[in-house]
Amino acid sequence: MPLVSMRQLLDEAAKGGYGVGAFNVNDMEQIQAIMGAAKETNSPVIIQASRGARQFAQDKYLFHLILAAAELNPEIPIAMHQDHGNSFETCKSAIELGYTSVMMDGSLKEDGKTPATFEENVAVTKKVVDFAHERGVTVEGEIGVLGGVEDGHGAGGTGLEHITDPDQAVEFAELTGVDALAIAIGTSHGAYKFSKKPDGSVLKMDVLIAIHKRLPNTHLVMHGSSSVPKDLQDVINKYGGKLKETWGVPVEEIQLGIRNGVRKVNVDTDNRLAMTGAIRKVLWETPEKFDPRDYMKPAREAMQKVVSLRMAQFGQAGHAGDYKAVTIAEIAKGYKDGSLSTKPLVAAR
Ligand code: 13P
Repeated sequence: MPLVSMRQLLDEAAKGGYGVGAFNVNDMEQIQAIMGAAKETNSPVIIQASRGARQFAQDKYLFHLILAAAELNPEIPIAMHQDHGNSFETCKSAIELGYTSVMMDGSLKEDGKTPATFEENVAVTKKVVDFAHERGVTVEGEIGVLGGVEDGHGAGGTGLEHITDPDQAVEFAELTGVDALAIAIGTSHGAYKFSKKPDGSVLKMDVLIAIHKRLPNTHLVMHGSSSVPKDLQDVINKYGGKLKETWGVPVEEIQLGIRNGVRKVNVDTDNRLAMTGAIRKVLWETPEKFDPRDYMKPAREAMQKVVSLRMAQFGQAGHAGDYKAVTIAEIAKGYKDGSLSTKPLVAAR
């Protein structure tokens, strides 16, 4: 299957009532791990690259590696997504390269650190929506500000500082016409999200449910959704790592989100932990080894295991063959003639 529009993938997920994992990549092994899992579980998938990843791997390498994934797995719908675009130019460059989806994170200013005003966010997001939709490319926007920092992008903090206001979410969706909406409900990027198993005082699922009630047809996105499992932390620490005790987002909370409009679930940290643990184990147990394949192969396998599990837990497993790819040109036509609506359905308060 050629790369598909993320809008198509999320519309299908909404029909099927499941969520789709959006997994971050920097290199070939991570892409292979995701595709191994997608094949194993027969899942549609979103592969996403941050600005940092695009710099690390160089655009062309990463782009062609993901194209190779599509070529080798014609039965799997894959959306290629720019994670946390910081400006119109970043999103434009991804679109011109061939990404089928972009996130314009206008919740922060272009420095990727300072919270932006609502008006600034609307203006830059709308500009990206106009440019992207003309070309059949999906847009995710963000309202409210996530906690933590990922690849140098993020306001820091706990994630509780700028929780999304449901009324503002409605206004933002109406003014911008985004296809998917990332909201801030207390999650943050990275391993250190919560100092104990999160309850409603730090993970605001009630806010998510309130937003879904007002915007019942809008595809919601949960960022910072790694669960940071104890067993993955333990492997790292057993083999010389020094992670402090920490908690992520419990899978059952993500599943509650999926029952309430979440269609895209962002996961990066869990895969980083799995790979690092596997690499540490090999180097610790067999310090005489020096062929990168000796540790990259178990690292890839460890990541595939995590991704397969998440695909089953998010409900996307088994859905790869539900639909045929609509071409990006047809998607562009849909935005133009209004058959692909960008006006959110808004329910009364
Ligand atoms: P985690 O750090 O929880 O994996 O979140 C990743 C993410 O949200 C990428 O945008």
